[in-house]
Amino acid sequence: MAATLESSVEDPLRNFVRVLEKRDGTVLRLQQYGSGGVGCVVWDAAIVLSKYLETPEFSGDGAHALSRRSVLELGSGTGAVGLMAATLGADVVVTDLEELQDLLKMNINMNEHLVTGSIQAKSLEPLLKTLKDLSGFETCIICCYEQRTMGKNPEIEKKYFELLQLDFDFEKIPLEKHDEEYRSEDIHILYIRKKKPKSPS
Ligand SMILES: C[S@@+](CC[C@H](N)C(=O)[O-])C[C@H]1O[C@@H](n2cnc3c(N)ncnc32)[C@H](O)[C@@H]1O
Repeated sequence: MAATLESSVEDPLRNFVRVLEKRDGTVLRLQQYGSGGVGCVVWDAAIVLSKYLETPEFSGDGAHALSRRSVLELGSGTGAVGLMAATLGADVVVTDLEELQDLLKMNINMNEHLVTGSIQAKSLEPLLKTLKDLSGFETCIICCYEQRTMGKNPEIEKKYFELLQLDFDFEKIPLEKHDEEYRSEDIHILYIRKKKPKSPS
């Protein structure tokens, strides 16, 4: 994979910058933390998706397909994909937990000169508010996530669903209805729909 690492020898925390070269020769620089939760590093899937956004297949002829489009990235971590989209002209909101906000903002600042659309970072509660504001009663949010048991993840997941269920109902898609090959016991698909107000009795 073309993305490389830059490290600072003076940095005792071993914080690395992941360098992601764009097709136009400019470079996205993504600060990662040497320790912390899963969002502190750039995942390979983020690199693959970022680079896909630049392909002629995705970008189309003329103005880039993302130009002036609104993009909401959920669980952005370092913000790699959202930043790539913002450099391709999209108006992006990157979201993650409160503890990732400083890292997201640092990466936005570090790459501001490459942004041709716009980008802002938001945390969990605003994300839920966004889902609520953008959903009508006919809206179906399809959510797919891998259940994690390590560290603070169960606590975070519990909090997320507590907040979500104030306004939404969930329907879990049974495993046997998932793709026969691409399925796993710990990866869940949910249909999430906004609760309808109770009619007065
Ligand atoms: C596996 S990481 C992927 C990060 C990034 N998308 C990437 O591919 O490099 C999953 C991210 O989802 C975030 N996340 C987990 N639960 C979340 C929640 N309830 N709301 C928003 N973000 C969440 C984590 O903090 C983490 O940054």
